[in-house]
Amino acid sequence: MLSSSGPSAKELREAMVGRLRGEGAIRSAAVAAVMGEVPRDAFVPGSALAEAYGSGPVVTHRDEAGVAISSASAPGVVATMLEQLDVREGHRVLEIGTGTGYNAALLALLVGSSGFVTSIEFDDDVAGSAREALSRTGYAVELVVGDGALGWDASAPYDRIIVTAGAWDVCDAWREQLVDGGLLLVPLRMAGLTRSVALRRDGEVLRSESLVPCGFIPLRGGDAVSEQNVWVGGKDGDLLLRIDDGAPVDAEAAGRALEYPGAAVWTGVGFVMPEILDFWLARMSGFCRVLISRDAADAGRIASPLFPWGSMGVVSGGTVAYLTVTADFSQIGVAAYGPDSQELAEQVAAQIGAWNADGGPRMTVSVEVHPTGTHPRPDSWLVLEKKDSTVMIAMRGGDLRQ
Ligand SMILES: C[S@@+](CC[C@H](N)C(=O)[O-])C[C@H]1O[C@@H](n2cnc3c(N)ncnc32)[C@H](O)[C@@H]1O
Repeated sequence: MLSSSGPSAKELREAMVGRLRGEGAIRSAAVAAVMGEVPRDAFVPGSALAEAYGSGPVVTHRDEAGVAISSASAPGVVATMLEQLDVREGHRVLEIGTGTGYNAALLALLVGSSGFVTSIEFDDDVAGSAREALSRTGYAVELVVGDGALGWDASAPYDRIIVTAGAWDVCDAWREQLVDGGLLLVPLRMAGLTRSVALRRDGEVLRSESLVPCGFIPLRGGDAVSEQNVWVGGKDGDLLLRIDDGAPVDAEAAGRALEYPGAAVWTGVGFVMPEILDFWLARMSGFCRVLISRDAADAGRIASPLFPWGSMGVVSGGTVAYLTVTADFSQIGVAAYGPDSQELAEQVAAQIGAWNADGGPRMTVSVEVHPTGTHPRPDSWLVLEKKDSTVMIAMRGGDLRQ
């Protein structure tokens, strides 16, 4: 008897597009058309068809420690970013982080024969595989090996620049190689919070048009800036603090926070997705992300975090606080451990209350990127001095309260 061979690549691709439309990741006919056409399986040749057209990223390269250094991003992320980038026929596009070459192929189709796509990859091996896949499938992309932090001057200027690796800074070259009025799309880390930010160039300033939460393999090379990792309770302890922007932290004192009894303060505020509350709390000194051992939370050793990975939190001296939630998700609270647990939990809870009173989930966040050293706008909620840029984050809510 013949066994069924399962759905074809074309059927799986159509199903993927249908799913992404349903989830709202694909919103335009143009993105639906190109994602329905480019064979994603050809760019991840070692993977089964079901994985190639599944919902997750496909890791293709790892370093010696087993850490992922290249992947085909999850289709939902690819689609969302293409929608943010708003690519038109005839555009000149620069992609930073070729990876498998899949997104470069989508871009090549979007710009058509009157446009031009350049893609830069840092890693020789990764670039080699992408080059093969692109030539096998026949998509016209100028592929170069180099550090994308410098852009690619030879084919500039660009109407669109898309960075597909996590960046800590907005490099000068990206702004300089973008036409005035053009869009730069970058997964930007701000106080440890990564957002895919679409930034429109207006002279020397870049202003956000959309922000979408995301996670990305970090950019390598000269511009790589890593977060500080502080274990609480020893290596592989129950909590891992991720602190960005070189903020000072007493790692030794914070590492002992779980030796003290905990405190919890409830806020009366319902569970919310973190997009806007995160930025509100990011102004607190010691703001960080707290990665939490699932086992420890399930065993009741520590309070449950807001999300499966953990929660945003604050470290102050030897005390660590993070957001928690009731079992029925009806109310956010703050759990804290350390010598000043009650006090820090109350401080963070007060901030959540203030956020809620000021518009809560109805607030909006916008980002402006200026050349480094620019005097901050007075309405900035948060100002982050990077190497090449000054990032100003504004939060607005008052006008929504009328
Ligand atoms: C998430 S993958 C990109 C996915 C890709 N766009 C695709 O469609 O498969 C990130 C890629 O960025 C590359 N990368 C990291 N740092 C880079 C840099 N400084 N310049 C260029 N590429 C870089 C990595 O080697 C990796 O291949």
